[in-house]
Amino acid sequence: MASLTVRKLDEAIKAYLRLRSAQNGRSVEEEVRVILREYVQGRPEPLSTLPAEMSAEPAWPENISTAEPRVTLIIGGGIAAYKSLDLIRRLKERHIRVRCVLTHAAQHFVTPLAASALSGERVHTDLFDPHSEFDAGHIRLARDCDLIVVAPATADLMSKMAQGAADDLASAVLLAATRPILLAPAMNPAMWSNAATRRNVAELERDGVALVGPNAGEMAEAGEAGTGRMAEPLEIVAAAERFLRPKKPGLLSGKRILITAGPTHEPIDPVRYIANRSSGKQGFAIAAAARAAGAEVVLVAGPVELDAPKGVSVVHVESARDMLRAVEAALPVDIAIFAAAVADWRVMSQGEQKLKKTDAAMPPLQLVENPDILATISHRAEGRPSLVIGFAAETEHLIDNAKSKLRRKGCDWIVANDVSPATGVMGGDRNTVHLLRRDGDTIGLDSWPVMTKEQVAVALVAEIARGVSERAESEPTT
Ligand code: CTP
Repeated sequence: MASLTVRKLDEAIKAYLRLRSAQNGRSVEEEVRVILREYVQGRPEPLSTLPAEMSAEPAWPENISTAEPRVTLIIGGGIAAYKSLDLIRRLKERHIRVRCVLTHAAQHFVTPLAASALSGERVHTDLFDPHSEFDAGHIRLARDCDLIVVAPATADLMSKMAQGAADDLASAVLLAATRPILLAPAMNPAMWSNAATRRNVAELERDGVALVGPNAGEMAEAGEAGTGRMAEPLEIVAAAERFLRPKKPGLLSGKRILITAGPTHEPIDPVRYIANRSSGKQGFAIAAAARAAGAEVVLVAGPVELDAPKGVSVVHVESARDMLRAVEAALPVDIAIFAAAVADWRVMSQGEQKLKKTDAAMPPLQLVENPDILATISHRAEGRPSLVIGFAAETEHLIDNAKSKLRRKGCDWIVANDVSPATGVMGGDRNTVHLLRRDGDTIGLDSWPVMTKEQVAVALVAEIARGVSERAESEPTT
């Protein structure tokens, strides 16, 4: 058993021991024995007078948190390193914790002090740093995070990675990594297109390393342009967030939904048509809500003044017959929602030329019935969507009319709304709806409070998702 010579301890420890032994009425040697015994028993008294640099750096919490994920950011030595300071700021703005490693070359462009001030964490620069390597700090930097970002990733750093070198802190962290790695390459265009770099990039991609950029544009070197500029900090943040906060699958992921919306225009002659007051807002809002819930959405829209919701493919049509063709072309779908205010009639024979006023009687407009798109799809023997939802726009006897429409048209659900002029629903932003669901011979009724058309859309999509999952649960598993 080794003996301990108190005289050989450093001054701070001797001062602490003298103070503590005097307080406890023990000799210094006896006090050391008590401390060691307490330590072994797991009850050490805090050594509060130890010099700060001897205390181990606190590890980041073990559990991966999407609320506050952690990034180890390796800053390589290139002019783009100045953008990495902005990157730290952008990551922190999004509640992502950042711990920085600076290569020796990086320190020619940015200082550890700047990186530490922005990150609010100690910055690491040296593989043989006694303050962090006493407990293999490079391993903690590699593992005690959710993602490693290298920005800028220089040609040299990428080459080292491809070869598995570990001769400095950055390359050792990358070799020890068990977390995903995202590189933001930055170099001169000639270096980026050089065969050696191409080989290294291919090798790294095979190893599962992800890349963001480089972008094309002007280089820092005067007069040079091409591919090699580091991706902008916000692009790097977006790429990092795809790892750190992956989107949860939506309630309707994997479902294909068809929606009709807006009015139809039924031509009388080349300049006149029969129309109605539908704005298409409700159908467009349902398309946006279904898309936000992860569905693939096809929106067949009559003439409206609305922008396509993000991620939704819109098929523009004019007349009821065009709408039916577009709907049939979009099949098969899992769910079909018919929110369009389809004109019930069209002019039997459309004038080839503009109808002229004459002294004789008014020109007769002979009308014929348009195809009923909802009924056509609901009654399909083959390829009927598993859930077909209609709308019932009524001005009187709302529920009774809606119930008979539900039966007559053969759909599963109907969304009934009062469109009398006093409600302002046609063209307005609010809607008061009643959801009628057919279950065999019975019809269930849910009356919703007045809501915006967006709220109606979200509520309807939630009901659809619930219906879909209930059906999936009740289906026998094979
Ligand atoms: N609908 C349709 N094709 C038509 C007429 C209506 O697909 N030619 C659909 C609408 O999109 C809506 C439902 O049928 O989902 C009910 O539309 P609505 O205008 O309320 O009813 P109509 O069938 O037109 O009956 P009515 O005009 O007599 O109320």
